[in-house]
Amino acid sequence: MHRAEVVMSPESTANRLIVVANRLPFIFSKGTDGQWQTKHGTGGLIRAMVPTLKNRGGVWVGWPGVADADAQDLELVLNRLTHDAGYTLHPVGLTADEVHGFYFGFSNEVIWPLFHDLQSNCNFDPEFWRTYQIVNRKYAGVIAGLAAPDDFIWVHDYHLMQLAIELRHMHLKNRIGFFLHTPFPPLDIFLKLPWRFEIICGLLQFDLVGFQTLRDRRNFLQCIRALFDQPRIEGEGQVLTIRVSHRDLCSGYDGDLDAERKIRVGSFPVGIDYRYYAEHAASEEVAKLASYLRSNMQGRKMILGVDRMDYTKGITNRLEAFALALRRYPGLIRHVTLVQHAVPSREDIPEYHELKSEIERLVSEINGEFTCAGWVPVHYILHNMSFDEVAAYYRAADIALVTPLKDGMNLVAKEYCAAQVDGNGVLILSEFAGAAAQLQKGALLVNPYDIEGTAESIYTAVNMSQEERVSRMHGLREVVRDSDIFCWVDSILHAAIDKDLSHFPVIEDYIPHVDLV
Ligand code: G6P
Repeated sequence: MHRAEVVMSPESTANRLIVVANRLPFIFSKGTDGQWQTKHGTGGLIRAMVPTLKNRGGVWVGWPGVADADAQDLELVLNRLTHDAGYTLHPVGLTADEVHGFYFGFSNEVIWPLFHDLQSNCNFDPEFWRTYQIVNRKYAGVIAGLAAPDDFIWVHDYHLMQLAIELRHMHLKNRIGFFLHTPFPPLDIFLKLPWRFEIICGLLQFDLVGFQTLRDRRNFLQCIRALFDQPRIEGEGQVLTIRVSHRDLCSGYDGDLDAERKIRVGSFPVGIDYRYYAEHAASEEVAKLASYLRSNMQGRKMILGVDRMDYTKGITNRLEAFALALRRYPGLIRHVTLVQHAVPSREDIPEYHELKSEIERLVSEINGEFTCAGWVPVHYILHNMSFDEVAAYYRAADIALVTPLKDGMNLVAKEYCAAQVDGNGVLILSEFAGAAAQLQKGALLVNPYDIEGTAESIYTAVNMSQEERVSRMHGLREVVRDSDIFCWVDSILHAAIDKDLSHFPVIEDYIPHVDLV
């Protein structure tokens, strides 16, 4: 089986897997007693990589989530977490100015909105770019200090696109892989970025560049074709090869400038730890909690949304679609309840503040319009829920409404399917989520900008026959099971050492369907 084939020994110091991400998987803060407190980080990257490192061991390099933290002061807590986690946590300290320019600024006010096609939310401040480079260099310094020549360095996400070029400047020859958890935008949008050439050249210093979907890889290759004079792109299937001369890359390379760099570029849809979710959802505690949640619904259908509080998640469009469904189909009144769980995120960025107010305004507007004795249409949950609670909601919900405006993958869609151990829930999924490619056959796909279409899909899901629900959910669970997180890791590690990928699940493409009238 493919799982045993790639040898990368995490426990020894040779051949380790070094995962690098902006954040460590825990967020640290000082309590009023002056002691460090920790909580789990949120988001798809952490949800994907934690089971990976738990399974294989290795090192996780990242920022502890607090500015100006003293590494020595943190050491005790990090050692304890390392011991419990089964892999080593290695911090990168950032100053308050660096957090401002690199994390809030370039990462989350330039790249995040741009890569989600929301260019009007971008703030192209040149200071952000300068700090981004400085901080990428800082990460590179930390990695150069700990990597052995045979370690595989696996860099994650849009915060660290300049990391390989910085490592190459430091003469590191290791294999370095990159995986983008977000979408990669179409050419016309990418070209708006004032530092487009630097970003592309930086990405081409990795040995392997991975995207979530074939759509993202297509967009990236289009940018390569636009920015380079006749690049060589070879191969077919899941992983292609790009060849570019060092001269074209303008990287300050001090070897033969006519020699070529070979970069592998693939599409690797990230998965979840399916078994863990399914077993957890089937556990007695979760079953009890789920039946309690169901009994509270008093026979009504539960529609569930679970998201980080982010403007890319389409929460406001979803609320509008729900309200429209209630207006159009009065039969739904008293018979459906929307439970929207939102996890606060990036609260120092103005757009995120405004979003919270807008969501709260809409929730109270809908509840004001429709609430009647014994029924409140929208239950809005802003506080953190335990893993058991989220699993119970997934299990109890009749419908999951996963409607991001654009999303790299969206693991909530997959977690919902895995936790559907009773097998009859309906997934309504945005066609702009990366997950749409794999889940297109079982889900009801919607364009989240189309409020009327989404409202119709809510109505269809509520009225879907038991037989159809079961058959769709069965297919969805199979896909999520067969391309789980371990399959994802193995396929990337195979690709990193140029191994054949033909025994992995075939990568599906999704192209939105347009009705020409
Ligand atoms: C997305 C990104 C991750 C990020 C996560 C949470 O999933 O792809 O890189 O970690 O959001 O966002 P935050 O800014 O809190 O790290």
